[in-house]
Amino acid sequence: MFARPLTADAELRPLEPWRAEEFLRHLDRARESISPWVSPSFVAADLPSARNVLQRYADRRARDDGGIWGIWLDGELVGGVLFVSFDAAAGLCEAGCWLEPAAEGRGLVTRAAGVIIDWAVGERGIQRVEWRTNAGNARSIAVARRLGMRHDGTLRQVYPGPTGARIDLEVWSLLADEWRNPAPVP
Ligand SMILES: CC(C)(COP(=O)(O)OP(=O)(O)OC[C@H]1O[C@@H](n2cnc3c(N)ncnc32)[C@H](O)[C@@H]1OP(=O)(O)O)[C@@H](O)C(=O)NCCC(=O)NCCS
Repeated sequence: MFARPLTADAELRPLEPWRAEEFLRHLDRARESISPWVSPSFVAADLPSARNVLQRYADRRARDDGGIWGIWLDGELVGGVLFVSFDAAAGLCEAGCWLEPAAEGRGLVTRAAGVIIDWAVGERGIQRVEWRTNAGNARSIAVARRLGMRHDGTLRQVYPGPTGARIDLEVWSLLADEWRNPAPVP
């Protein structure tokens, strides 16, 4: 019912539990490319699990401590953005994102993340938006840069990787003043 245009052919909408079948079909297209980079619990493999993922985020939205929004390109769900955590009282949140391969390279996630960050900073008083990413995830780091985030630091060997080597996690962040008065992206 509610949609926010991102480009002439793409929209951002709430991604609610009733869309679980559509979400699962999308995950089937995205599974291979996103699995190395997102939490295994997000990449649902059947309908009840897909519904659970969306219900978890709906519950978080209701509690005002998270949320998930989908990106539709030419009427098809192709990815989205989310608040992994959201704490208005503390002025902190963490944003995240994903896309299926066919939707990459169009600036959709940068635009969609901009919409939710704008809301978080402009309407909810969030002072610091965090972005946490596997240090090997060049595309995610490029999104953080495009959003005007800065690299706070790297948490070394935070969790085990698929080959046994442990994964470093980069923490990027954007402060409210930096969002309102963006520096030119280098
Ligand atoms: C991370 C991910 C969402 C980035 O997708 P993406 O398409 O590179 O990001 P954006 O939507 O911001 O688009 C940027 C691309 O569009 C291009 N672009 C075109 N028009 C643009 C515009 N108006 N604004 C910004 N970028 C634009 C950019 O040049 C860039 O393409 P390039 O990297 O080929 O140069 C995607 O790679 C993904 O889903 N990865 C797997 C899951 C994942 O890593 N999630 C994040 C976990 S922390």
